[in-house]
Amino acid sequence: MSKEIINYYIDEMKDSTLYKSLAEIENDENVREELLKLSSMEKEHAYFWKDFLERKGVKVEEFKPSLTIGLYKLLRKIFGLAFTSKVMEMGEAKTIREYYEFYRKADLSEEEKEKLKQIIEDELLHEDIFHKMSSSEK
Ligand SMILES: [Fe+2]
Repeated sequence: MSKEIINYYIDEMKDSTLYKSLAEIENDENVREELLKLSSMEKEHAYFWKDFLERKGVKVEEFKPSLTIGLYKLLRKIFGLAFTSKVMEMGEAKTIREYYEFYRKADLSEEEKEKLKQIIEDELLHEDIFHKMSSSEK
């Protein structure tokens, strides 16, 4: 179980870093704002999982951004925002499925359930935002 949750933590941190990196190279001010907002939401999600693990006595190592970030920046430059958002939309959809499964099967406190529900709602919103970005070609 902890390995799965460590991956949730890492994925949230990855997304947070990714959205921030994409914001840095974004020219459209609205999109940039949106990406920065998403980045900070993902960081909050990451902290939810980090706290969750620490409450169970699992120590979480410091997150180190991976090379994939550079790959996404390249995707963004070559293929544009619509394509990159499509890829991110798919990523969010995967996260929603995983969290929903986890919500159903894990033994969670009422407070944890409430928070996770909120996180799933956030991810649904993110999926929608990326869907809109991917349908408006820039
Ligand atoms: Fe998230």
